Amino acid sequence: MFRRHARLARLRAWTAQEFAIRIKRARFRSFARRMDKKVITLLKSQAYIDGTWTGAPGFAVLDKATGAEIARVPDLGADEARLAITAAERAFKPWAKLLAKERAAILRRWYELILDHADELALLLTKEQGKPLTEAKGEVIYGAGFVGFNAEQAKRIYGEVIPSHKPDARVMVTKYPVGVVAAITPWNFPVAMITRKVTPALAAGCTIVVKPAEDTPLCALALAALAERAGVPKGVFNVVTCKDPVAVGKVLTTDSRVRMVTFTGSTEVGKILMAQASGTVKKIGLELGGNAPLIVFDDADISRAVTGAMASKFRNAGQTCVSANRILVQAGIFDAFVAALTAEVAKHKVGAGVDAGVTQGPLINLQAVEKVEAHLADAIAKGAKVIAGGKRHKLGKTFFEPTVVTGIGRSMRMWNEETFGPVAAITRFATDEEAIELANSTPFGLAAYVFTRDLARTFRMSDALDFGIIGINEGLTSTEVAPFGGVKESGLGREGSHHGVEEFVELKYTLIGGL
Ligand code: SIN
Repeated sequence: MFRRHARLARLRAWTAQEFAIRIKRARFRSFARRMDKKVITLLKSQAYIDGTWTGAPGFAVLDKATGAEIARVPDLGADEARLAITAAERAFKPWAKLLAKERAAILRRWYELILDHADELALLLTKEQGKPLTEAKGEVIYGAGFVGFNAEQAKRIYGEVIPSHKPDARVMVTKYPVGVVAAITPWNFPVAMITRKVTPALAAGCTIVVKPAEDTPLCALALAALAERAGVPKGVFNVVTCKDPVAVGKVLTTDSRVRMVTFTGSTEVGKILMAQASGTVKKIGLELGGNAPLIVFDDADISRAVTGAMASKFRNAGQTCVSANRILVQAGIFDAFVAALTAEVAKHKVGAGVDAGVTQGPLINLQAVEKVEAHLADAIAKGAKVIAGGKRHKLGKTFFEPTVVTGIGRSMRMWNEETFGPVAAITRFATDEEAIELANSTPFGLAAYVFTRDLARTFRMSDALDFGIIGINEGLTSTEVAPFGGVKESGLGREGSHHGVEEFVELKYTLIGGL
Protein backbone atom coordinates (compact mmCIF):
# COMPACT_ATOMS: atom_id res chain seq x y z
CA MET A 1 0.00 0.00 0.00
CA PHE A 2 2.74 2.40 1.06
CA ARG A 3 4.80 1.52 -2.03
CA ARG A 4 1.78 2.22 -4.24
CA HIS A 5 1.32 5.67 -2.66
CA ALA A 6 4.99 6.50 -3.04
CA ARG A 7 4.82 5.50 -6.72
CA LEU A 8 1.72 7.63 -7.31
CA ALA A 9 3.39 10.59 -5.58
CA ARG A 10 6.45 10.17 -7.80
CA LEU A 11 4.26 10.02 -10.91
CA ARG A 12 2.39 13.17 -9.88
CA ALA A 13 5.68 15.00 -9.32
CA TRP A 14 6.71 14.43 -12.97
CA THR A 15 5.98 17.29 -15.29
CA ALA A 16 4.17 16.47 -18.53
CA GLN A 17 7.47 16.84 -20.33
CA GLU A 18 9.28 14.40 -18.02
CA PHE A 19 6.41 12.01 -18.45
CA ALA A 20 6.66 12.18 -22.23
CA ILE A 21 10.42 11.65 -22.11
CA ARG A 22 10.07 8.60 -19.85
CA ILE A 23 7.40 7.04 -22.06
CA LYS A 24 9.60 7.65 -25.10
CA ARG A 25 12.58 6.02 -23.36
CA ALA A 26 10.53 3.00 -22.26
CA ARG A 27 9.18 2.54 -25.79
CA PHE A 28 12.69 2.82 -27.18
CA ARG A 29 14.05 0.24 -24.71
CA SER A 30 11.33 -2.22 -25.57
CA PHE A 31 11.90 -1.55 -29.30
CA ALA A 32 15.64 -2.21 -28.86
CA ARG A 33 14.90 -5.45 -26.93
CA ARG A 34 12.53 -6.65 -29.65
CA MET A 35 15.01 -5.68 -32.32
CA ASP A 36 17.82 -7.48 -30.53
CA LYS A 37 15.87 -10.71 -30.93
CA LYS A 38 14.90 -10.04 -34.53
CA VAL A 39 18.45 -9.17 -35.59
CA ILE A 40 19.43 -12.75 -34.89
CA THR A 41 17.58 -13.82 -38.03
CA LEU A 42 19.94 -11.68 -40.11
CA LEU A 43 23.05 -12.10 -38.00
CA LYS A 44 25.32 -14.36 -40.03
CA SER A 45 28.68 -15.71 -38.96
CA GLN A 46 29.71 -17.31 -42.23
CA ALA A 47 30.78 -15.88 -45.56
CA TYR A 48 28.54 -16.31 -48.61
CA ILE A 49 30.16 -17.89 -51.66
CA ASP A 50 28.39 -19.59 -54.56
CA GLY A 51 25.05 -19.54 -52.74
CA THR A 52 26.52 -21.36 -49.74
CA TRP A 53 27.18 -20.10 -46.21
CA THR A 54 30.76 -21.09 -45.66
CA GLY A 55 33.83 -20.77 -43.40
CA ALA A 56 34.54 -21.21 -39.71
CA PRO A 57 34.15 -18.34 -37.25
CA GLY A 58 37.41 -16.39 -37.35
CA PHE A 59 37.73 -12.77 -36.27
CA ALA A 60 35.45 -10.89 -33.88
CA VAL A 61 33.19 -8.07 -34.99
CA LEU A 62 32.76 -5.65 -32.10
CA ASP A 63 29.91 -3.43 -30.99
CA LYS A 64 31.57 -0.05 -31.54
CA ALA A 65 29.89 1.57 -28.52
CA THR A 66 30.56 -1.15 -25.93
CA GLY A 67 33.46 -3.15 -27.34
CA ALA A 68 31.42 -6.36 -26.84
CA GLU A 69 31.68 -9.09 -29.44
CA ILE A 70 28.63 -9.23 -31.73
CA ALA A 71 29.72 -12.23 -33.80
CA ARG A 72 32.73 -13.94 -35.34
CA VAL A 73 33.08 -14.19 -39.10
CA PRO A 74 35.49 -16.20 -41.26
CA ASP A 75 38.93 -14.82 -41.91
CA LEU A 76 39.23 -15.90 -45.53
CA GLY A 77 42.21 -15.55 -47.82
CA ALA A 78 43.40 -15.72 -51.41
CA ASP A 79 42.09 -19.25 -52.06
CA GLU A 80 38.54 -18.41 -51.00
CA ALA A 81 38.68 -15.17 -53.01
CA ARG A 82 39.56 -17.26 -56.10
CA LEU A 83 36.69 -19.67 -55.32
CA ALA A 84 34.31 -16.73 -55.16
CA ILE A 85 35.58 -15.46 -58.53
CA THR A 86 35.09 -18.95 -60.00
CA ALA A 87 31.51 -18.97 -58.70
CA ALA A 88 30.85 -15.49 -60.08
CA GLU A 89 32.34 -16.43 -63.44
CA ARG A 90 30.17 -19.59 -63.64
CA ALA A 91 27.06 -17.61 -62.74
CA PHE A 92 27.80 -14.75 -65.14
CA LYS A 93 26.41 -16.04 -68.46
CA PRO A 94 23.09 -17.39 -67.12
CA TRP A 95 22.53 -14.18 -65.13
CA ALA A 96 23.42 -11.93 -68.07
CA LYS A 97 21.10 -13.98 -70.31
CA LEU A 98 18.04 -13.46 -68.12
CA LEU A 99 15.56 -10.98 -69.52
CA ALA A 100 16.10 -7.52 -68.09
CA LYS A 101 12.67 -7.70 -66.50
CA GLU A 102 13.57 -10.98 -64.80
CA ARG A 103 16.67 -9.44 -63.21
CA ALA A 104 14.54 -6.41 -62.32
CA ALA A 105 11.96 -8.57 -60.55
CA ILE A 106 14.61 -10.23 -58.38
CA LEU A 107 16.14 -6.85 -57.48
CA ARG A 108 12.68 -5.52 -56.68
CA ARG A 109 12.08 -8.44 -54.28
CA TRP A 110 15.43 -7.74 -52.63
CA TYR A 111 14.44 -4.07 -52.27
CA GLU A 112 11.16 -5.00 -50.58
CA LEU A 113 12.90 -7.44 -48.23
CA ILE A 114 15.44 -4.78 -47.20
CA LEU A 115 12.61 -2.37 -46.40
CA ASP A 116 10.72 -5.10 -44.51
CA HIS A 117 13.85 -5.64 -42.39
CA ALA A 118 14.86 -1.99 -42.15
CA ASP A 119 14.65 -1.85 -38.34
CA GLU A 120 16.72 -4.98 -37.85
CA LEU A 121 19.31 -3.90 -40.38
CA ALA A 122 19.49 -0.47 -38.75
CA LEU A 123 20.15 -1.98 -35.33
CA LEU A 124 22.84 -4.27 -36.72
CA LEU A 125 24.36 -1.28 -38.51
CA THR A 126 24.37 0.82 -35.33
CA LYS A 127 26.03 -1.95 -33.38
CA GLU A 128 28.78 -2.79 -35.83
CA GLN A 129 29.40 0.75 -37.13
CA GLY A 130 28.40 3.04 -34.25
CA LYS A 131 26.12 5.65 -35.86
CA PRO A 132 22.88 6.55 -34.01
CA LEU A 133 19.88 4.36 -34.73
CA THR A 134 17.92 7.07 -36.56
CA GLU A 135 20.90 7.72 -38.82
CA ALA A 136 21.33 3.98 -39.35
CA LYS A 137 17.69 3.66 -40.36
CA GLY A 138 18.23 6.59 -42.73
CA GLU A 139 21.18 4.75 -44.26
CA VAL A 140 19.13 1.57 -44.72
CA ILE A 141 16.42 3.53 -46.55
CA TYR A 142 19.08 5.36 -48.59
CA GLY A 143 20.77 2.03 -49.37
CA ALA A 144 17.48 0.39 -50.32
CA GLY A 145 16.91 3.31 -52.69
CA PHE A 146 19.76 2.05 -54.90
CA VAL A 147 18.20 -1.40 -55.04
CA GLY A 148 14.77 -0.04 -56.02
CA PHE A 149 16.23 2.42 -58.51
CA ASN A 150 18.44 -0.16 -60.20
CA ALA A 151 15.60 -2.69 -60.35
CA GLU A 152 13.93 -0.13 -62.63
CA GLN A 153 17.12 0.83 -64.41
CA ALA A 154 17.79 -2.81 -65.40
CA LYS A 155 15.03 -2.37 -67.99
CA ARG A 156 16.46 0.86 -69.39
CA ILE A 157 19.94 -0.05 -70.55
CA TYR A 158 19.30 1.10 -74.11
CA GLY A 159 21.52 0.81 -77.18
CA GLU A 160 21.66 3.26 -80.10
CA VAL A 161 21.34 3.41 -83.86
CA ILE A 162 23.59 6.21 -85.11
CA PRO A 163 23.00 7.96 -88.49
CA SER A 164 25.33 6.09 -90.79
CA HIS A 165 28.41 7.39 -92.61
CA LYS A 166 27.60 5.11 -95.63
CA PRO A 167 24.43 4.97 -97.74
CA ASP A 168 24.06 1.17 -97.49
CA ALA A 169 24.95 0.65 -93.84
CA ARG A 170 23.58 0.84 -90.35
CA VAL A 171 25.65 1.87 -87.30
CA MET A 172 24.46 0.07 -84.21
CA VAL A 173 25.65 0.35 -80.60
CA THR A 174 24.68 -2.33 -78.11
CA LYS A 175 25.53 -2.66 -74.43
CA TYR A 176 26.87 -5.71 -72.60
CA PRO A 177 27.70 -6.33 -68.95
CA VAL A 178 31.42 -6.01 -68.23
CA GLY A 179 31.54 -9.46 -66.56
CA VAL A 180 32.70 -10.40 -63.08
CA VAL A 181 33.05 -7.36 -60.81
CA ALA A 182 34.96 -7.08 -57.52
CA ALA A 183 33.72 -4.57 -54.97
CA ILE A 184 35.81 -3.44 -52.01
CA THR A 185 33.55 -1.53 -49.66
CA PRO A 186 34.09 0.82 -46.68
CA TRP A 187 33.00 0.73 -43.03
CA ASN A 188 31.33 4.15 -42.89
CA PHE A 189 28.18 3.14 -44.82
CA PRO A 190 28.12 -0.67 -44.53
CA VAL A 191 24.69 -0.98 -46.19
CA ALA A 192 24.48 1.85 -48.71
CA MET A 193 27.96 1.50 -50.19
CA ILE A 194 27.24 -2.17 -50.91
CA THR A 195 23.87 -1.61 -52.54
CA ARG A 196 25.25 1.38 -54.47
CA LYS A 197 27.88 -0.87 -56.08
CA VAL A 198 26.18 -4.26 -56.22
CA THR A 199 22.79 -3.33 -57.65
CA PRO A 200 23.88 -1.39 -60.77
CA ALA A 201 26.29 -4.27 -61.50
CA LEU A 202 23.53 -6.86 -61.10
CA ALA A 203 21.07 -4.74 -63.10
CA ALA A 204 23.53 -4.60 -66.00
CA GLY A 205 23.95 -8.40 -65.91
CA CYS A 206 27.30 -8.58 -64.09
CA THR A 207 28.04 -10.89 -61.19
CA ILE A 208 29.99 -9.68 -58.18
CA VAL A 209 32.36 -10.58 -55.35
CA VAL A 210 32.21 -8.18 -52.40
CA LYS A 211 34.94 -7.81 -49.81
CA PRO A 212 33.35 -5.77 -47.01
CA ALA A 213 35.42 -3.73 -44.55
CA GLU A 214 36.80 -5.81 -41.68
CA ASP A 215 35.14 -3.49 -39.13
CA THR A 216 31.66 -3.95 -40.61
CA PRO A 217 31.13 -7.29 -42.41
CA LEU A 218 27.80 -8.12 -40.71
CA CYS A 219 25.58 -5.78 -42.74
CA ALA A 220 27.10 -7.20 -45.94
CA LEU A 221 26.21 -10.72 -44.80
CA ALA A 222 22.72 -9.62 -43.74
CA LEU A 223 22.22 -8.12 -47.20
CA ALA A 224 23.40 -11.40 -48.74
CA ALA A 225 20.88 -13.31 -46.61
CA LEU A 226 18.09 -11.08 -47.95
CA ALA A 227 19.41 -11.36 -51.52
CA GLU A 228 19.29 -15.15 -51.16
CA ARG A 229 15.67 -14.95 -49.97
CA ALA A 230 14.88 -12.62 -52.88
CA GLY A 231 16.05 -15.29 -55.33
CA VAL A 232 19.42 -13.92 -56.43
CA PRO A 233 20.91 -17.08 -57.99
CA LYS A 234 23.95 -18.71 -56.48
CA GLY A 235 27.28 -17.24 -57.50
CA VAL A 236 25.75 -13.93 -58.61
CA PHE A 237 26.50 -12.10 -55.34
CA ASN A 238 29.31 -13.37 -53.13
CA VAL A 239 30.67 -11.95 -49.87
CA VAL A 240 34.23 -12.80 -48.82
CA THR A 241 35.04 -11.70 -45.26
CA CYS A 242 38.61 -11.24 -44.07
CA LYS A 243 40.53 -9.53 -41.30
CA ASP A 244 43.52 -8.45 -43.39
CA PRO A 245 42.34 -7.03 -46.71
CA VAL A 246 45.69 -7.25 -48.51
CA ALA A 247 45.65 -10.88 -49.75
CA VAL A 248 42.00 -10.87 -50.84
CA GLY A 249 42.36 -7.39 -52.35
CA LYS A 250 45.36 -8.56 -54.35
CA VAL A 251 43.43 -11.49 -55.85
CA LEU A 252 40.39 -9.34 -56.64
CA THR A 253 42.50 -6.75 -58.44
CA THR A 254 44.85 -9.08 -60.31
CA ASP A 255 42.81 -12.17 -61.29
CA SER A 256 42.20 -11.86 -65.03
CA ARG A 257 38.63 -13.21 -64.70
CA VAL A 258 37.60 -10.07 -62.81
CA ARG A 259 36.80 -7.41 -65.43
CA MET A 260 36.01 -4.47 -63.15
CA VAL A 261 37.03 -3.30 -59.69
CA THR A 262 34.92 -0.82 -57.76
CA PHE A 263 36.27 0.62 -54.53
CA THR A 264 35.27 3.19 -51.93
CA GLY A 265 37.93 4.26 -49.46
CA SER A 266 41.05 6.35 -49.13
CA THR A 267 42.90 7.84 -52.08
CA GLU A 268 46.06 6.14 -50.85
CA VAL A 269 44.53 2.64 -51.07
CA GLY A 270 42.67 3.54 -54.27
CA LYS A 271 45.98 4.28 -55.99
CA ILE A 272 47.39 0.88 -54.94
CA LEU A 273 44.29 -0.95 -56.20
CA MET A 274 44.35 1.02 -59.45
CA ALA A 275 47.99 0.07 -60.01
CA GLN A 276 47.24 -3.60 -59.27
CA ALA A 277 44.22 -3.61 -61.60
CA SER A 278 46.24 -2.09 -64.43
CA GLY A 279 48.10 -5.39 -64.96
CA THR A 280 44.98 -6.91 -66.54
CA VAL A 281 43.49 -3.58 -67.76
CA LYS A 282 40.32 -3.81 -65.71
CA LYS A 283 37.61 -1.19 -65.73
CA ILE A 284 37.76 0.73 -62.50
CA GLY A 285 35.39 2.76 -60.35
CA LEU A 286 36.90 4.71 -57.48
CA GLU A 287 35.16 6.76 -54.78
CA LEU A 288 38.10 8.17 -52.85
CA GLY A 289 38.89 10.85 -50.34
CA GLY A 290 37.35 14.30 -50.31
CA ASN A 291 38.35 17.54 -48.66
CA ALA A 292 35.05 19.34 -48.97
CA PRO A 293 34.88 23.11 -48.60
CA LEU A 294 31.66 24.57 -47.22
CA ILE A 295 31.44 28.25 -48.13
CA VAL A 296 29.14 30.63 -46.27
CA PHE A 297 28.70 34.04 -47.90
CA ASP A 298 27.63 37.22 -46.10
CA ASP A 299 24.23 37.04 -47.82
CA ALA A 300 23.48 33.48 -46.64
CA ASP A 301 20.42 32.51 -44.63
CA ILE A 302 22.40 31.88 -41.46
CA SER A 303 20.10 29.30 -39.93
CA ARG A 304 20.05 27.36 -43.22
CA ALA A 305 23.85 27.54 -43.37
CA VAL A 306 24.15 26.22 -39.81
CA THR A 307 21.70 23.38 -40.51
CA GLY A 308 23.62 22.52 -43.68
CA ALA A 309 26.99 22.66 -41.93
CA MET A 310 25.71 20.45 -39.10
CA ALA A 311 24.33 17.89 -41.54
CA SER A 312 27.40 17.83 -43.72
CA LYS A 313 29.96 17.97 -40.90
CA PHE A 314 28.43 15.86 -38.13
CA ARG A 315 26.59 13.15 -40.11
CA ASN A 316 28.15 9.85 -39.07
CA ALA A 317 30.37 11.79 -36.60
CA GLY A 318 32.14 13.41 -39.55
CA GLN A 319 33.15 10.07 -41.00
CA THR A 320 31.98 10.58 -44.58
CA CYS A 321 34.03 11.47 -47.62
CA VAL A 322 31.60 14.31 -48.38
CA SER A 323 31.89 15.84 -44.88
CA ALA A 324 32.64 19.57 -44.82
CA ASN A 325 36.35 19.44 -43.99
CA ARG A 326 37.04 23.18 -44.36
CA ILE A 327 34.33 25.69 -43.49
CA LEU A 328 35.04 29.02 -45.19
CA VAL A 329 33.00 31.93 -43.84
CA GLN A 330 32.90 35.47 -45.26
CA ALA A 331 34.13 38.15 -42.84
CA GLY A 332 30.79 39.98 -42.44
CA ILE A 333 28.92 36.93 -41.16
CA PHE A 334 31.85 35.16 -39.47
CA ASP A 335 31.17 35.87 -35.79
CA ALA A 336 27.42 35.30 -36.07
CA PHE A 337 27.91 32.01 -37.94
CA VAL A 338 30.52 30.68 -35.49
CA ALA A 339 28.27 31.56 -32.52
CA ALA A 340 25.19 29.93 -34.12
CA LEU A 341 27.10 26.80 -35.13
CA THR A 342 28.68 26.47 -31.68
CA ALA A 343 25.23 26.75 -30.06
CA GLU A 344 23.95 23.97 -32.32
CA VAL A 345 26.99 21.78 -31.63
CA ALA A 346 26.35 22.15 -27.89
CA LYS A 347 23.00 20.39 -28.38
CA HIS A 348 24.69 17.23 -29.63
CA LYS A 349 24.23 14.21 -27.39
CA VAL A 350 27.16 11.80 -27.54
CA GLY A 351 26.61 8.17 -26.60
CA ALA A 352 25.86 4.65 -27.76
CA GLY A 353 23.85 4.80 -30.98
CA VAL A 354 21.14 2.53 -29.55
CA ASP A 355 20.33 4.97 -26.75
CA ALA A 356 17.41 7.35 -27.18
CA GLY A 357 18.26 10.91 -28.10
CA VAL A 358 21.88 10.21 -29.05
CA THR A 359 22.98 12.25 -32.06
CA GLN A 360 26.64 11.27 -32.22
CA GLY A 361 28.02 7.78 -31.72
CA PRO A 362 31.60 6.59 -31.24
CA LEU A 363 34.26 6.81 -33.93
CA ILE A 364 35.03 3.56 -35.71
CA ASN A 365 38.27 2.72 -33.87
CA LEU A 366 41.16 4.11 -31.85
CA GLN A 367 43.22 5.02 -34.94
CA ALA A 368 40.37 7.28 -36.03
CA VAL A 369 40.41 9.04 -32.65
CA GLU A 370 44.19 9.39 -32.80
CA LYS A 371 44.00 10.96 -36.25
CA VAL A 372 41.48 13.55 -35.04
CA GLU A 373 43.70 14.32 -32.04
CA ALA A 374 46.79 14.64 -34.22
CA HIS A 375 44.99 17.04 -36.58
CA LEU A 376 43.81 19.16 -33.66
CA ALA A 377 47.23 19.22 -31.98
CA ASP A 378 48.84 20.28 -35.27
CA ALA A 379 46.23 23.01 -35.85
CA ILE A 380 46.50 24.37 -32.29
CA ALA A 381 50.31 24.43 -32.50
CA LYS A 382 49.97 26.51 -35.69
CA GLY A 383 47.57 29.05 -34.17
CA ALA A 384 44.03 27.61 -34.48
CA LYS A 385 41.62 28.23 -31.58
CA VAL A 386 39.30 25.61 -30.06
CA ILE A 387 35.85 27.14 -29.51
CA ALA A 388 34.06 23.95 -28.35
CA GLY A 389 35.05 20.37 -27.58
CA GLY A 390 38.54 19.43 -28.68
CA LYS A 391 39.19 16.23 -26.74
CA ARG A 392 38.05 12.67 -26.07
CA HIS A 393 34.58 12.51 -24.55
CA LYS A 394 34.18 11.63 -20.88
CA LEU A 395 32.48 8.39 -21.98
CA GLY A 396 35.97 7.21 -22.97
CA LYS A 397 36.63 4.48 -25.58
CA THR A 398 36.30 6.03 -29.04
CA PHE A 399 33.82 8.75 -28.16
CA PHE A 400 34.99 12.24 -29.14
CA GLU A 401 33.55 15.63 -28.26
CA PRO A 402 31.80 17.52 -31.06
CA THR A 403 34.36 20.20 -31.78
CA VAL A 404 34.51 23.67 -33.31
CA VAL A 405 37.88 25.20 -34.18
CA THR A 406 38.61 28.52 -35.90
CA GLY A 407 41.66 30.01 -37.58
CA ILE A 408 42.58 27.01 -39.71
CA GLY A 409 44.98 27.58 -42.60
CA ARG A 410 46.94 26.06 -45.45
CA SER A 411 49.92 24.88 -43.38
CA MET A 412 47.72 22.65 -41.24
CA ARG A 413 46.99 18.94 -41.64
CA MET A 414 43.27 19.53 -41.27
CA TRP A 415 43.38 21.85 -44.28
CA ASN A 416 45.14 19.32 -46.49
CA GLU A 417 43.78 15.97 -45.31
CA GLU A 418 40.35 14.67 -44.33
CA THR A 419 40.03 14.75 -40.55
CA PHE A 420 37.18 12.20 -40.74
CA GLY A 421 35.86 13.13 -37.33
CA PRO A 422 33.44 15.50 -35.56
CA VAL A 423 35.52 18.65 -36.00
CA ALA A 424 34.08 21.77 -37.64
CA ALA A 425 37.23 23.56 -38.85
CA ILE A 426 36.53 27.17 -39.79
CA THR A 427 38.39 29.99 -41.49
CA ARG A 428 37.54 33.49 -42.74
CA PHE A 429 37.64 34.89 -46.30
CA ALA A 430 36.92 38.26 -47.89
CA THR A 431 35.98 37.97 -51.59
CA ASP A 432 34.36 35.47 -53.98
CA GLU A 433 37.69 35.04 -55.80
CA GLU A 434 39.45 34.23 -52.54
CA ALA A 435 36.75 31.68 -51.61
CA ILE A 436 37.11 29.94 -54.98
CA GLU A 437 40.89 29.88 -54.75
CA LEU A 438 40.84 28.54 -51.18
CA ALA A 439 38.18 25.93 -51.97
CA ASN A 440 39.98 24.61 -55.04
CA SER A 441 43.43 24.57 -53.42
CA THR A 442 43.39 20.80 -52.88
CA PRO A 443 44.20 17.75 -54.99
CA PHE A 444 40.73 16.42 -54.08
CA GLY A 445 37.42 17.24 -55.74
CA LEU A 446 34.49 15.28 -54.36
CA ALA A 447 31.91 17.62 -52.78
CA ALA A 448 31.60 21.34 -52.11
CA TYR A 449 28.84 23.35 -50.46
CA VAL A 450 27.85 26.99 -50.90
CA PHE A 451 25.42 29.05 -48.85
CA THR A 452 24.19 32.22 -50.55
CA ARG A 453 20.94 33.89 -51.54
CA ASP A 454 22.43 35.49 -54.66
CA LEU A 455 21.31 33.65 -57.80
CA ALA A 456 24.15 34.89 -60.00
CA ARG A 457 26.69 33.84 -57.36
CA THR A 458 25.04 30.41 -57.21
CA PHE A 459 25.76 29.78 -60.88
CA ARG A 460 29.25 31.35 -60.75
CA MET A 461 30.22 29.13 -57.82
CA SER A 462 28.72 26.01 -59.35
CA ASP A 463 30.86 26.62 -62.47
CA ALA A 464 34.05 27.64 -60.67
CA LEU A 465 34.33 24.92 -58.02
CA ASP A 466 36.34 21.89 -59.19
CA PHE A 467 34.22 19.25 -57.47
CA GLY A 468 31.95 16.44 -58.69
CA ILE A 469 29.08 17.31 -56.32
CA ILE A 470 27.93 20.83 -55.42
CA GLY A 471 25.34 21.53 -52.73
CA ILE A 472 23.88 25.04 -52.89
CA ASN A 473 22.09 25.91 -49.65
CA GLU A 474 22.11 22.16 -48.91
CA GLY A 475 24.44 20.12 -46.71
CA LEU A 476 23.11 16.72 -47.73
CA THR A 477 23.26 15.90 -51.42
CA SER A 478 23.37 12.10 -51.51
CA THR A 479 20.51 10.28 -53.23
CA GLU A 480 20.13 7.29 -55.51
CA VAL A 481 18.76 9.47 -58.32
CA ALA A 482 21.88 11.63 -58.76
CA PRO A 483 25.47 10.78 -59.79
CA PHE A 484 27.87 10.56 -56.84
CA GLY A 485 31.58 10.89 -57.57
CA GLY A 486 34.57 13.14 -57.70
CA VAL A 487 37.21 14.72 -59.91
CA LYS A 488 41.00 14.96 -59.49
CA GLU A 489 42.27 12.55 -56.80
CA SER A 490 38.77 11.94 -55.45
CA GLY A 491 38.13 9.20 -57.93
CA LEU A 492 36.90 7.89 -61.24
CA GLY A 493 33.37 7.21 -62.42
CA ARG A 494 29.99 7.82 -60.84
CA GLU A 495 27.65 5.82 -58.61
CA GLY A 496 23.89 6.23 -58.44
CA SER A 497 21.47 7.44 -61.13
CA HIS A 498 21.46 6.05 -64.68
CA HIS A 499 25.15 7.07 -64.94
CA GLY A 500 25.97 4.55 -62.20
CA VAL A 501 24.60 1.63 -64.21
CA GLU A 502 26.45 2.74 -67.33
CA GLU A 503 29.77 2.14 -65.48
CA PHE A 504 29.03 -1.60 -65.58
CA VAL A 505 28.46 -1.96 -69.32
CA GLU A 506 30.73 -2.23 -72.33
CA LEU A 507 29.72 -0.70 -75.64
CA LYS A 508 29.81 -2.74 -78.82
CA TYR A 509 29.70 -1.00 -82.19
CA THR A 510 28.35 -3.14 -85.03
CA LEU A 511 28.47 -1.86 -88.62
CA ILE A 512 25.95 -3.64 -90.85
CA GLY A 513 26.95 -3.05 -94.48
CA GLY A 514 25.55 -4.04 -97.90
CA LEU A 515 21.98 -3.12 -97.02
C1 SIN B 1 30.96 8.07 -48.35
O1 SIN B 1 31.30 8.75 -47.42
O2 SIN B 1 31.75 7.28 -48.87
C2 SIN B 1 29.58 8.13 -48.93
C3 SIN B 1 28.76 9.22 -48.43
C4 SIN B 1 27.39 9.27 -49.05
O3 SIN B 1 26.98 8.39 -49.81
O4 SIN B 1 26.70 10.24 -48.77
